[in-house]
Parts: sequence; C-alpha cells; structure tokens
Amino acid sequence: MKIPVKNIRETNCACDALILPFVEGASEFYKKFGSAFQKQIRKAFSKEFHGKRNELLLMPTTEGVKPERILLIGLGKKNEVSAESIRQAGGKAAVHLRDKGMKKIAVSTSLISFLNLSPLNFIEGALLSLYKYERYRKEKDNKKIDNITILSKTSKRLSDELKWTEAITSSVYFARDLINTPSNDMTPAHLAKAALSLRNKRLSVKVLERKDAERLGMNVYLSVTKGSHEPPKFIVLQYKGAKSKPLALIGKSITFDSGGISLKPSDGMEKMKYDMAGGAAVLGVLKAASELKLPVNLVGILPATENLPGGSATKPGDIARSITGKTVEIINTDAEGRLILADAIGYAIKHFGPKAIIDIATLTGACSVALGNEAIAMMGNDRKLIDNIKKSAERTCERVWEMPLFDEYKEYLKSDIADIKNTGGKNGSLVTAAYFLYEFAGKTPWVHLDIAGTAWVEKDKPYIPKGASAIGVRLIMDVIKNLK
Ligand code: BES
Ligand code: MN
Ligand code: ZN
Repeated sequence: MKIPVKNIRETNCACDALILPFVEGASEFYKKFGSAFQKQIRKAFSKEFHGKRNELLLMPTTEGVKPERILLIGLGKKNEVSAESIRQAGGKAAVHLRDKGMKKIAVSTSLISFLNLSPLNFIEGALLSLYKYERYRKEKDNKKIDNITILSKTSKRLSDELKWTEAITSSVYFARDLINTPSNDMTPAHLAKAALSLRNKRLSVKVLERKDAERLGMNVYLSVTKGSHEPPKFIVLQYKGAKSKPLALIGKSITFDSGGISLKPSDGMEKMKYDMAGGAAVLGVLKAASELKLPVNLVGILPATENLPGGSATKPGDIARSITGKTVEIINTDAEGRLILADAIGYAIKHFGPKAIIDIATLTGACSVALGNEAIAMMGNDRKLIDNIKKSAERTCERVWEMPLFDEYKEYLKSDIADIKNTGGKNGSLVTAAYFLYEFAGKTPWVHLDIAGTAWVEKDKPYIPKGASAIGVRLIMDVIKNLK
C-alpha cells in the first residue's frame, strides 16, 4: 500500500474515488473547489445524504474533474467530531471502496484540518480496516486498494505522523496474523520464530528452552507445560534505544488453552488459539518501537506454552515453586495464565530490575462478564502509571477501566499448605487473578491489562474486522510515546 502526500486541488486528483468528509448538514464546505462537484453535492444533501456519522454515498463525477468518483462520508455533528470518529470514518470509507473494487483512492483533508484534527487518524482507520487474514484460503480476494493519496500540504509533522501510523498499523497486522493463526501452526516454537524475525541492531531476542527454565527455577511456568508435547519457549526480547532502566512488557502466550486437567467445555474452545494475544501485542510493540527507533529501553517477555491435559499434566492440588521462591497450590489448571505470568514477572524483576512492568493477558472469562467487549480491565500498584495508561486509552480509544486491588482480596488466595493458591473462587475472579500477579510484582511499579473481552471481535467494527483485534499495540505505543 502506498500513501503519497500531494499538495494539489481535489478536482485535479486523478483517482478511482476521492473521499470527501462532511459534518452534518454542511453541504457547502467544498464550494471553494468550484461548481463541478458542488451541484452534485447539493443535490445529494437534498435527499439521500446528510453527513450523519459514518453515512456513505458513492457517486460518479461529471465531466471537468479528474477523480472518477466521489465518496461522501459523514462525520456527524460538528461539535462531536473526535479523533475516534475520524478513525471510524476512515475505516468505513476504505472498506466500502475496497469492496466496490477501487484501487487508487484519495482523501481530502481540508475539513479534518479545519476541525483541528489529524488526517492521520483517517489513514489509521483506513489501514486498520483493510486487514484480511487469507493464509488458509486457496482463492484469495483480489479486491485490494493499492494507493491512498493524502491531499494536503506537506510538512515535517505530517510525514512524522505518517511514519508513526504506518509503523503501528503494520505491527497491528503482524500481531493479528499471529493471533489468527490456528494453534497447530502457532506453536510456542512458531511464536519464538516470529520473535526472532524481529531481530536487528538494537533488538536482541533470546529463547529459553525447558532446561533453561528448570535451571532458573521457573517451576510455576513449567507446571503449565507438562501436558503438552510441544516444547515450551520462554521468549525474551530486548530493545535498547536508551540507557535508562527498561520498561518490561509481559504478554500471556498460551498458544492453546484447553484448560488442562480442569478441561474447558468444548463449546467455543476453538477460540482458545487467541490465548497468546497478549504475547502478540508485546511483539507488535517491540516491532514498531524498533522500526521507529524510539529513544526508550524495552524488555518483552513471552512465556509461551500450550495448556493441555495428558498423563504427565499438572493435576489440581499440585504445588510448584516459582523463581521468587513462593510456592503455589494449583487448584484449577485452567487458571494457567497467572501461573506463567507469575514466573515471567519474577524473571523480569530478577534479571532486568525494570522501572515498571506492564503485563497484558487474556486472563479471565470474568473480564467479559464485567465489561463485555468494550474495555480492557486494568489493575495495578502505581497511580502514575495507571493514570498515564488511562490518558493513552482515551487518545487511542483502546479503552481501559480500572478495577480495585483491595487488601481484603489477599484472603481469597490463601492456601492451606502453600504460600498462595491460584484461584480465589467465583466471586471477584477478575480481580483475584490480578491480585495473584500483584503478589509477584511486589514493590515494582506494575499494571495488569486483562484483554480477554477485547482481543477477539465477533462482528466487524469500523476499523477492526472480525477476528483478532491486536488490542494493546496502539495503547502501549501511546504509553511509550509519552513516557517521561
Ligand atoms: N484464557 C482463559 C480466559 C479466557 C476466557 C480468555 C475466555 C478469553 C475468553 C483463562 O486461562 C481461563 O481459563 N481463566 C479461567 C480462570 C478460572 C479457572 C479461575 C476463567 O476465567 O474461567
Ligand atoms: Mn485457562
Ligand atoms: Zn488461558
């Protein structure tokens, strides 16, 4: 996909379709470009188009202008337009034009700039919406947009923003591909290979094998691997763009979650290939950060394994000792995410002394019970980091909602014979899962993001097609951008 910036008049832009955004009821905005479109636009506004949010109208143009067609897209009420509504408009317009077979399209940015918003939000929405996962189809869809021209004055700011947007959207594509891949092809070894493919001068990747994890004493992580024949891979990435202490990003990387001996019901179990969406998001962030050569220090950790039942699998009631020395009584083998994360958090603290940790995980079914598919559940021990993530969530519209970590939850996880148990019962299970991690984070500033409700989309959204969303990539990139 090419995204040239051209400083030419809308009427002089040769393309299959030119996108013209409108706010509700304002048909005259493009009047200054002459009467060629204007008659058509005015006619449309008299009946079939009003500029309502995400409303679309594609029309062939008349003689005298270069674009073959114009696509009117509504942004809704003028005082309600936001970065998010622009992003959604970009998604809606791009998918509509792709499905109509358009190849070269262009977008007028004068209204968006007039509203003091960035045209790059429109491009971001367009690029994110055009994602398709076709790896396993013999017949690929040949409808593809080749070219989105941005009609605008060129500037350093615009080209920087364009670079940012392209890096982020390509990392989102990268992460979505990993998540959508079925577990027979997305094994821990494949995930390690994907991580290794990102290596460059500033980004190193180390893959710890089972014997390394044994030597390091990560037996809580290893307890999850025991039922599977696929070798586990504990993947560690280091991006060095600065000298400061690193920010550690830890992504849950269960390449398939059957529940283990505490087997899940078979209805919907096929979805559990996406239980590595946290790990994929972390890879996406490291890819984008290194492509953009950001001046930050990052560590990415993906404790990868399958969670399967079997003759040598961990059984309810078993106890394992973690890298921190804490012992865990495993009441339910389906609460495996917190087990692999506990050792990953312990490892991060021991080996990197990070200034902060963010973990991202499809951790609990209770997350979607509480918030549906609309927000990430967030819990942590550091007010400043939590508040920064809230701000990033508002900017990116990868929404978060904070949940509490009251001291009283500690009781829920008391084991009769070990230091802690891995489940705290049905009530409050979204929070007790995080509380379990909190016990391993200790004093290190830490935030947990539960993406169980948002990592997978059941129905197309304006810029997230059905399937893996790769949520977290845009959010964490915004957090990093604003790190101080
Ligand atoms: N991977 C699941 C959580 C999940 C469920 C993610 C549905 C996405 C969609 C996690 O490992 C799990 O099984 N959690 C259990 C914990 C319980 C046994 C305490 C759950 O939430 O049911
Ligand atoms: Mn599970
Ligand atoms: Zn899981």
